[in-house]
Amino acid sequence: MTTEHSIDPVTPDWANLSLASTWADEINFTRPRGWLQFARSILGKPQPVQLAPDDPLRAGIPKYALQEFHNLPNGNYSHRISRGYITGFDRMMLGHMARQRRVMAQQLADCDAVLDVGTGGGKLAAALVDAGVKDVWGVDVSPYMLKHAATDFPAVNFYQAAAERLPFCEQRFDAVTVCFLFHEMPPKYIAKALAEIDRVLRPGGRLLVAEPSARQLGPIPWRLLMRRAGWRHVYFKRMAARVHEPFIKAWHGLDKQALFAQAGFCLDEHNDRVPINYYSLKKHSLPATAVVG
Ligand SMILES: C[S@@+](CC[C@H](N)C(=O)[O-])C[C@H]1O[C@@H](n2cnc3c(N)ncnc32)[C@H](O)[C@@H]1O
Repeated sequence: MTTEHSIDPVTPDWANLSLASTWADEINFTRPRGWLQFARSILGKPQPVQLAPDDPLRAGIPKYALQEFHNLPNGNYSHRISRGYITGFDRMMLGHMARQRRVMAQQLADCDAVLDVGTGGGKLAAALVDAGVKDVWGVDVSPYMLKHAATDFPAVNFYQAAAERLPFCEQRFDAVTVCFLFHEMPPKYIAKALAEIDRVLRPGGRLLVAEPSARQLGPIPWRLLMRRAGWRHVYFKRMAARVHEPFIKAWHGLDKQALFAQAGFCLDEHNDRVPINYYSLKKHSLPATAVVG
């Protein structure tokens, strides 16, 4: 039987795909005025993202993603600032992201086919290749992110797609990874994304989810204050209060275990520590309705 997605999508030739520059690419960092413009954007009120009206890749971007997440000038939509974000994110996270991606990749080392959703600069997808996974795909809504990812990691297949509309056939993957994506989506789209992930996973397939921990928002346990963990907590708490994350409160408010269970997943491992809240899940071997009923 053929389905809407009976074959894999054809990945673009990212190296030769020319993406329009956006206003954030025009900031002139060799002039004080450029730095002033940058500072105004980083410290000011986040604005809607601007793209050329005839940009062919615009259609693949949900409206809610067209915001200046993390107060970045034009969000994830420029050549230069998105490159800076890929490097800067890992630095700001003090090495925790790189460690987390390695752990996730190692857990999936025995898989043949893995999809990384919201892949950004493709570092988790690349870690999966390094761990020995042969068939690795990364999808993201930002073509600018994907172009950097494809340049840096040619062994991975990168394609523009939203988590809530995956361009793959049923049971295509042994595992799916999600790293710091769901907290950037409105809850109704997270539910849709989980349904899509369930669809593209084979029965018994794995879903690994890493997202910011809500613990960093809470009070700092006094016993930690004199230790490194206490300073780490202070640092992440201040950062969380500063950056524009329009849906993070809604994400923290969700009952994650119920959300995953409703989508057809059972929990294998849960590890919630500042700054990362990590879930390792498995898709039920039977359809969710059969399991519930
Ligand atoms: C915080 S970054 C994380 C990137 C990467 N997973 C990592 O660990 O470095 C979130 C990424 O999700 C992408 N994104 C946001 N909404 C999306 C959606 N609905 N579907 C797919 N990707 C999305 C953004 O473009 C961005 O690249």
